[in-house]
Amino acid sequence: MTGSVNYGDRIPNNVDLGRDRVLQRALEHWQPQYIGWWYDMGPAESRGYDVYLRTAISVEPEGWAVFDYVKMPDYRWGIFLAPPEADRAINFGVNKGRQVWSEVPGEYRSPLRRLIVTQGDTEPASVEQQRMLGMSCPSLYDLRNIYQVNVEEGRHLWAMVYLLHRYFGRDGREEAEALLERRSGDEDNPRILGAFNEPTPDWLAFYMFTFFTDRDGKFQLASLAESGFDPLARTCRFMLTEEAHHMFVGETGVGRIVQRTADVMAEHKIENPDQVRDLGVIDLPTIQRYLNFHYSVTLDLFGSEVSSNAATFFTNGLKGRYHETAIQDDHVLAEAMYDVGDVAGGNVASKDVPALSALNARLRDDYIGEVQAGVDRWNRHIEHAGLPYRLTLPHKGFHRAIGYFADHHISPEGRVLTDDEWERGSRAWLPSERDYAFVQSLMSGRVVEPGKFANWIAPPRTGINRQPLDFQYVRFN
Ligand SMILES: [Fe+2]
Ligand SMILES: [Fe+2]
Repeated sequence: MTGSVNYGDRIPNNVDLGRDRVLQRALEHWQPQYIGWWYDMGPAESRGYDVYLRTAISVEPEGWAVFDYVKMPDYRWGIFLAPPEADRAINFGVNKGRQVWSEVPGEYRSPLRRLIVTQGDTEPASVEQQRMLGMSCPSLYDLRNIYQVNVEEGRHLWAMVYLLHRYFGRDGREEAEALLERRSGDEDNPRILGAFNEPTPDWLAFYMFTFFTDRDGKFQLASLAESGFDPLARTCRFMLTEEAHHMFVGETGVGRIVQRTADVMAEHKIENPDQVRDLGVIDLPTIQRYLNFHYSVTLDLFGSEVSSNAATFFTNGLKGRYHETAIQDDHVLAEAMYDVGDVAGGNVASKDVPALSALNARLRDDYIGEVQAGVDRWNRHIEHAGLPYRLTLPHKGFHRAIGYFADHHISPEGRVLTDDEWERGSRAWLPSERDYAFVQSLMSGRVVEPGKFANWIAPPRTGINRQPLDFQYVRFN
């Protein structure tokens, strides 16, 4: 890679990349490192595949989702900001009513950089976590979908790196390099947030991850989309359009597994998990245990219920609440209180704290509302099959490592447990080695015949971009 490459052309963008020499030089340095990272840590053995992917080439409705066969290392990772809103004002905090910032205010430089780095770090992390899954895909359709998610997480990294390079000078460049150096699960140099260092060992875990953990991403992006730092807000607004597909992959992925299991159970009139497993589908209690795990580690991503950092971000206008602009209140939270819940006298009890300090808890609760609706939709498959089993979200205090509940053992029903009770119960509540081994045994090879699906998952209702289900979504060459 030499300096003669025209990055303005190579990198689709609506930020006038070609005119900014400093930025060009920064990207000339970073881009080859990124490609090196993709080769090392991107989807295994996928280099020569032609994948039917959508690529954003502009933010206009007809330009943001162009479908074609692409070799992933040649994917055009572009830089797009949603169009600016004329006279946009900061909508919350002490700067409420002032014009949004188009450059980084000096006094907020370090917290803004921290928010951007923390968000940016999750993007390559999930690609690393999912690296091996292409080797055991249940269909070409699903293979294409995971690759789509992977290249878009790559683009989200680009989005954050653009901000670092463009607005944060030398420290920004250093942070952009560090984003390619940390590794998910690495002992010495791990990714910043816990859930992004957990393995994603199989496709059930992948769908749970995209349903639960990508959705944390959606809520974080949505609150950053309210930011008074306008380039960050506009970047996040465009990222959210891509994130919707990731949620879709997760929700329908788990839904199709649940549907397949429920159908097999109904057809054979069996409910015993061992018998269900004997028929080569994933028993519902195992799905519940995966759900418990991914839900609880994702709740930790919202941080401590009470957080002075979150209060500062809000007060300064850096990070809003979910759908801040649509909320009907003072947007300053001078008086409001919020119930965060805590353990008191051996029970889970409500606890009111100033709403300003409880913004993490509030974002988490907004998130819980949305995931509950998804779980309800999964249950419909079980209901339709005439089975009594229901998937449920465990209590928000269950299996937590961060916040008020981290020092307690809470059952899925919300009861405070002794160490012994937890020891005994957690085996039934969280996936065991045996569960992982069983799920793995179903996913030992990949299904790549067009239109064919692994036995443990139902086909989707429709294909991608109105293509048929037996479309050649990936060509292996
Ligand atoms: Fe992302
Ligand atoms: Fe995502």
